[in-house]
Formats: sequence, C-alpha cells, structure tokens
Amino acid sequence: MKDKVVITTGGTSGIGLSIVKYMLKNEAKVLLQFRKKIKLSTLLYSNWKMKIRELFFDELQMQYRDRIGFYTCDVTNTIMISSTTFVMASYMLIDRIGKHKGGNGGVIVNVASILGLVNDLFTVLHNTESLDSVATAVIEREDGDESVWVVKRDEPAFLDKVAIVTGGTGGIGFATVQALLRHGAKYVAIFDLDSMHTRAASCIHKVEEEFGKDKADFYTCDVTIQSEFAARYDEIVGMQRTVDILVNYASIASEPRAHHMIDINLTAVVTCTLIGIDRMGRHHNGRGGAIVNVCSVFGLTTSPAFPIYTATKYGVYGFTKSLKDHYEHLGVRVMAVCPGLTETSLLHQNLKEETLNFIPEKYLNEAFQCSKYIQSPANVGAAIVKMIEEAEAGAIWVSEDNEPPYAVQDPEFYKDRGVPV
Ligand SMILES: NC(=O)c1ccc[n+]([C@@H]2O[C@H](COP(=O)([O-])OP(=O)(O)OC[C@H]3O[C@@H](n4cnc5c(N)ncnc54)[C@H](O)[C@@H]3O)[C@@H](O)[C@H]2O)c1
Repeated sequence: MKDKVVITTGGTSGIGLSIVKYMLKNEAKVLLQFRKKIKLSTLLYSNWKMKIRELFFDELQMQYRDRIGFYTCDVTNTIMISSTTFVMASYMLIDRIGKHKGGNGGVIVNVASILGLVNDLFTVLHNTESLDSVATAVIEREDGDESVWVVKRDEPAFLDKVAIVTGGTGGIGFATVQALLRHGAKYVAIFDLDSMHTRAASCIHKVEEEFGKDKADFYTCDVTIQSEFAARYDEIVGMQRTVDILVNYASIASEPRAHHMIDINLTAVVTCTLIGIDRMGRHHNGRGGAIVNVCSVFGLTTSPAFPIYTATKYGVYGFTKSLKDHYEHLGVRVMAVCPGLTETSLLHQNLKEETLNFIPEKYLNEAFQCSKYIQSPANVGAAIVKMIEEAEAGAIWVSEDNEPPYAVQDPEFYKDRGVPV
C-alpha cells in the first residue's frame, strides 16, 4: 500500500475502522477518512458512541500523524444509506481516477454482505467474523475484476484434525509436520525408521518448543511392512479416535537398490494409501479424509540419470490420478505433490553412487537443472497444507523454486497424442 491514497467511508467504527488501521499498518501514505454527517436523530442516542470514536481517531492520529485525515461527509445526503450510494460513489470515483479521463486507475471495494448471496440468516448469525479477518480480505485479495469474496470463519484450517506423516523426520516430512501444526492440527504422528531415533528426538523437541506438549510423537514404522503400518495406524486411531490426514512421504533415491526403492517409493505408497482408504472411507462408515502422496517433478518428465526413481514417481502419479473418481463414494481425497529440488539429506548423498554404473555424468548434471533454485523444505510443507485445504481429488501440484505451488493439467487423451509410425 506504500504511497497509495485511500478514501474510506464509514471509517470510524467497526469493519471500516479495522480497514483504516490495516491500511495504515500497510503504509498507505495519506488516508482521508470520511464519516457520515451526524443527524439530530442519531445524535440523540449515539453521541456517546461518537465521543468514543473521536478518542479512537485521536489515538490513530498520534500514531500516524500526517498519514491520516478526518473529513465529515454524509455520503447519502438523503435519509437512507442505500445501494444508490455505492453506485453513485463508485461512478464519481471512476470519473476521477479512470484511465479514460487521464487518471491512473485504482481499486474500489464495495462492502456487501453474505446475505446478498444467501438468505440463510441462521447460518450467517452462527458464523461471525473478526473485524480483522474482513479487513485483511479487503486489502490482500486482489486477484481479479468483478470478484465477490466471502470472508470465511477465522479459525485454523485443521482444527481438531489428526494426521500421520510417513518419513516424518525427513527434510520435507518434518516441514510438513510443522506446517500442519501451525495450521491448527490437533495431533501429528511421525512415522519413520527406527534408525531415525536421534533425528526424531530433535524433531519432537522442536515441536514441543513451538507448539507445547502432546502435539506430536514419533512411531517406529517401516512403511514397506504393511502389517506394521496398519498396526501403527490403528494405534493412533485408538488414542486419537480418528485419523483425518495421511501424508505418504517416506522415500529414498537409490538406483542400485532398485527393488528396495520400488518397495518404498511405490509399493508402500500404494499399500499405505489403501490402508488409509480402508479406515477413512465412507464405504466403511469412516469420516472421509485427505491423503497426499509424494511424487516429484521427475514424475512429470523423463530423467536419464534416475530411470528407476522416475518410474516409481510415474507410478505414484498414475495411482493417485486413477483414484480421483472414487472420491465421490469414499469421501477420501487422494492427491500428489511434486517437489522440485529441495534442500534435504536426499541431495547431500553421493548421487553418483546412487545412479546406475552405465549412466554418464552429464545426465546427472542435467538432472540438477530441473529447478531454478534449491528451495526450502518449508515451501513444500506449505504447499501440502494448501493442497489439503483446497485441492481437488486427483490433483497433482508442483512445488518448486520457493514459489507458491501450481496444479498440473492432465495430459491429452493418448489417441490425440498419437502419431503415425
Ligand atoms: N529433496 C528433493 O530435492 C526432492 C525433490 C523431489 C521429490 N522429493 C521427494 O520428497 C520425498 C522426501 O524426500 P526428502 O527430500 O525429504 O528426503 P529425506 O531423506 O530427508 O526424507 C525421507 C524420509 O523417509 C524415511 N524413510 C525411508 N525409508 C523408509 C521406510 N521404509 N519407512 C519409513 N520411512 C522411511 C527416511 O528415514 C527419511 O526420514 C521423497 O519422496 C523424494 O523423492 C525430494
């Protein structure tokens, strides 16, 4: 908002005042605040309210001095504030800032109500918003013209949700654990190999420092042993009554250990997903849920340096997409995230030793050109959280270069891609 000049009508109280404060915090340069002219009838019962508002205003002026101005103005000049006011005010402003008249253009936000979209007053009254959440929505969302934004309830996305993250002490796995807890998850079970005990202790310590006790625990679980995964899963259900989210993140990159890698990266993703569906699915009276499988940008392209790893990721891609149409009756959304290069222990192995011995080094170098930057694991954690919040069943999202994630479209039907041979 730096250097922007803003007019807010009705800006001395309620949502208007919140918007004013938020704009000032966001460095709006000059703020001309308009209030409705006090009429005799209003004064009779609300003059004490106006006094309080003026005190508020004095405080703001002390804090922001030359960046705020206060102007008396009745926006209607008639008795009722009606939709005519919005139309006329918008029209007048367009006339002054519109490019058609040599102006710089600008933004006009009209405040409506959810009652303009639904007529269920009961729901509306039982979902009250904080003033700040409305102010944030007015200022921060600017993704299009003619938009109508509904401000949602101001509560963490994963309140009361229980999650399992496999490979949860790993770079991206643990970043996902943290992201889930930051978004209000009730409890996250971290599944990883017994050999990760020391790393797990440090993860639990970090969780306790940031979120307090009893928000996460470490469980020894080799995902390639189906019975072990199922037993651990049921242990969590026994303690927490439910599991709502499963993130299948356990994985390795080692071409010479082809069988083992396929077992972890593909077979275990399939079996763990099926165990999750079996327990969350509505077909077994479950509550539904979300499963995110880990894929890779190598699951979307070819990689001469890591053909077997790439095959496992293609497998995860095909498996995840093929479950899309079962969401309707299972209530379980299965999705996959494809990270680009990410700063974790995976990149610190001697990757030359993890490729097949006939593969020339130039392909290894090429493989590292896939992303522009080596991103932080936290960026993938944030993408996974966003995915659980809003992606559709079968969605495939890419998270790379420390950028926000994006979805990948399905390839054309294979017959349309056919070429004569
Ligand atoms: N780091 C990257 O650049 C990158 C890029 C694209 C995709 N990925 C994918 O992200 C995923 C996680 O990788 P990361 O980079 O966080 O690596 P990481 O090595 O830090 O994490 C992997 C975790 O999986 C665990 N694990 C391995 N085998 C297991 C088993 N049998 N049972 C249970 N846990 C097991 C490991 O102990 C480790 O904690 C992998 O699927 C990887 O393919 C990573």
